[in-house]
Amino acid sequence: MAGVAEVSALRAEALARIDAAADAQALDAVRIEWLGRKAGRITVLLKAIPSVPPGERAAFGQAVNALKAAVAERLEARKAALEAVRQEGPAVDVTLPGRRLALGKLHPITRATREMIEIVGRLGFEVVEGPEVEDEWHNFVGLNIPPDHPARDPLDNYYLKDQVLLRTQTSTVQVRIMENRKPPVRVVAPGRVYRPDTVDAGHSNMFHQLEGLWVEQGVTFADLKSVLSMFARAFFGPAVRTRFQPSYFPFTEPSAEMYVSCLLCAGAGCPMCKRTGWIEILGCGMVDPNVFEAVGYDPEAVTGFAFGMGIDRQAMLKYGITDIRLLFENNVRFLRQF
Ligand code: DAH
Repeated sequence: MAGVAEVSALRAEALARIDAAADAQALDAVRIEWLGRKAGRITVLLKAIPSVPPGERAAFGQAVNALKAAVAERLEARKAALEAVRQEGPAVDVTLPGRRLALGKLHPITRATREMIEIVGRLGFEVVEGPEVEDEWHNFVGLNIPPDHPARDPLDNYYLKDQVLLRTQTSTVQVRIMENRKPPVRVVAPGRVYRPDTVDAGHSNMFHQLEGLWVEQGVTFADLKSVLSMFARAFFGPAVRTRFQPSYFPFTEPSAEMYVSCLLCAGAGCPMCKRTGWIEILGCGMVDPNVFEAVGYDPEAVTGFAFGMGIDRQAMLKYGITDIRLLFENNVRFLRQF
């Protein structure tokens, strides 16, 4: 049987083993080796106390109990130390480069639309919206487009059901606004329009328009020309030239198309402008008295002008995009460039 000296000698060994335990599992193994209920090395010594000769028993018992207390205490300390390390987590290499945040970008159509709205906003135009699912009244009838007009051919429209279709133009919003407000009105309406066109580099069956309408006492064609010319210079740059050419729309009289000098060749003639030097960007005109009557305005009391331009087409011109389909494919490598 071990004597007091041997028991004391075990202390250094036990504490060293505890300190060497690298994780909770290893520490538990050390605990079982020394304090295990059946065969722990200290447990065996405790059980042996009664068989020590009475003269040595007290000193022996004291030594074993002191050893047990020291080991138990060191086990607790080691356990706490291991847990603290685990909570801190793995070491962080602060010299690694940071993770770059992916910066979002506006879609070119959103960008063009916002820029257009900002420009006309300086002239007092308010932004309004209308529904994409429309009725024939707002898409045609109220706009003075008679039932036999070719634009009303069911094959040229996306009808959802009888008399309900996807709007083919944002001019619908003119009717909606005037039905609901008394003059003066000075609004622009951006939005999607739909036509069953064959999709190619220049055409999409869904595209965007910006509609404009200014109705008030004494609005003239001179106001139309100055607003739209100023718009073109602000949007495309001060060097751009504009040209108005007579045209026909059922909802305006007189009607015109506005052309801007080609942005690519500055008017010299190139494939983009079909060698004419000019590119058509919008339709416009003085609001037809029939439209005023349809919405309950007095054509003798107010005059107004309206315009409608393709946003996609103008964004393409401005940003040098040659295929309209690129705008709707949502290819990030394309969109990232704007
Ligand atoms: N709505 C016409 C279109 O989609 C464009 C247009 C022409 C709008 C003349 C107008 C306008 O407001 O006055 O082709």
